[in-house]
Parts: sequence; structure tokens; C-alpha cells
Amino acid sequence: MWRKSLSTALLALLACPVWAAAPERIVVMTADVADVVVALGAAPTVIGRDRSSQHPALASAAVIGFNRSLSVEPITRLKPQLVLGSSLAQPATIWPQLQKLGIPAQQVSQHEDGRDFANSIREIGRLLEQSARAEQLAQQWQQGMTAKTATGVRYLFTYDGSLVAGKNTAADTLIRAAGGINIAEHDGFKPLSREAWRRLKPEVIVVADHNRAITGGRAGLLARPEIALTPAGQKGRVYELPAGEMFRIDLDSPKAVSKLGQL
Ligand code: HEM
Repeated sequence: MWRKSLSTALLALLACPVWAAAPERIVVMTADVADVVVALGAAPTVIGRDRSSQHPALASAAVIGFNRSLSVEPITRLKPQLVLGSSLAQPATIWPQLQKLGIPAQQVSQHEDGRDFANSIREIGRLLEQSARAEQLAQQWQQGMTAKTATGVRYLFTYDGSLVAGKNTAADTLIRAAGGINIAEHDGFKPLSREAWRRLKPEVIVVADHNRAITGGRAGLLARPEIALTPAGQKGRVYELPAGEMFRIDLDSPKAVSKLGQL
């Protein structure tokens, strides 16, 4: 019996990164996590970041690539004591690859829709020995994400004018927190038929602004018959907004929720 509990304890120890004090050489692979690290006062320890981690406090950290197409070499070159990231770190094989090389790497969240974001703040706090500060930040964030009174506004979020955000996406979380209705009921992202765009009658359409070359921008979208015929099209309520704001859950999501309510 004691043998079993001893080996369980040893396994648990091996699974956790171990260092004497808070880590001093951190690489952040995703912007959601980077912003929490900064908010917890650990920006000076960040030696590497992905391209989407644009917080000014991290400007001098080396860029290790883009969070959706990461590779191990630029990370290992920095000899980090700790690598942090969320489910936005892709390809997902980056985690086992880093672990295989003996680099302590911790994925602090599993879900892009942010259902575990508050806990990921707490986990980052634990790893950085800033648990009390993290608890405060997590509670503040949760409060900011409490669902507003239902407005009944019908939202459609499209990443690139084709892929539409359904359930279990960051967009869905933001829409529900704003008291609105995500009219797309499929899981994740998928394209919808022209007939579906019309039938779903969106009142507000949001599109990622960096995809303007594909969408033709607001004017291009409004010119599409399946959009022109919707309430959103008729009232011109089509908005190009940053993907980091509307297609990702992070510390600023409470602000994104308020913005949605004002569109
Ligand atoms: C539905 C799937 C996708 C979602 C939900 C998504 C979401 C996002 C988000 C939230 C950002 C902001 C930065 C970040 O936190 O990552 C972003 C940026 C970006 N994404 Fe995507 N992405 C998707 C697919 C793709 C694909 C397939 C490509 C390329 C083939 C792509 C290319 C980019 C680029 C280049 C940026 C940077 C834009 C900039 O410079 O502002 N994304 N995306």
C-alpha cells in the first residue's frame, strides 16, 4: 500500500516543473497567458514571447514565432526555466515535444471558449508564486464576465467571412456574457450555406479585421446578397474588429463584452 502511494507521489512530483524559487526565465507562447504573467508583475522574467503577445511590457522579449504555428527550436534556444501557454498554442504536439526535451512546459488551459480561464489565472499565479494576486485577478475577471441581462440581440461572428463561430468558441462566450444570442448552433467553426445566413437573421455581424483581404472589408461583406438581406445588412450593423478582442478569451474580455453590448 505504502509502495503505491510513494510511487504515486513520485509520479506527481515528476509531472510538475520543479525549481527552488519563482522561475526567472519564462517563455510565453500565447497572448492570453502573456497578459496574465504581466498583470502578476512577472514581465521582467519573460525572455521569449509569441508574435501575438503584444503587451508593451514584453517588447524586449525575443519572438519565438506565431502561436498557431510554433516550433521547439526558437524556444529551446532561449533555455527557459518555464514555458507557459494556453490551448491557443498550436500545433498541440508542441507540448509533448518540449517535455521530451526536458523543458518544463505547462499548458494552463484546455478550452478556447475560456470556461477554464479563471482557473488558468490561478494556475499561473501558483507557478509564479503569486497566488494571492492571481486569486484577486481571477475573481475580478469572473465578475466582469457575469452574464448581462438578456438583450435578445442576434449575433453572428465570422472569422473570415466564411467560418462562423458556433458553440464552445470564445465568440460564443462573449455573446452570452453580453446577454445576446449566438444564432449559430453548431460546434466550433464551420462555413454556413447562403440560405443559412439569411434564415438565421443576424442583427449584428462581427468579422476579424485582419482578414480584410479575404472578406473585402465591411463594404465587401455588405455587398453579399446573403448578408444584405439580413437585419444586420439592412441596418449596416457589420463590424470589423480585432481577432484578439472578439475571437479570444483573455483578461480584456470583460471590456469586449461591454463593447458588444454597444454595437
Ligand atoms: C477558426 C480558426 C481560427 C481562429 C478562431 C483564429 C483566431 C485568431 C485570433 C484570436 C487571433 C489573434 C491573435 C491570437 O490570439 O492568436 C488570430 C490572429 C491571426 N490568425 Fe487566426 N484563427 C483561426 C485560423 C487561422 C488560420 C487558418 C490562419 C492562417 C492560415 C490564421 C492566421 C492568423 C494570422 C496571420 C493572425 C495575425 C493577425 C494580425 O497580425 O493581427 N488564423 N487568429
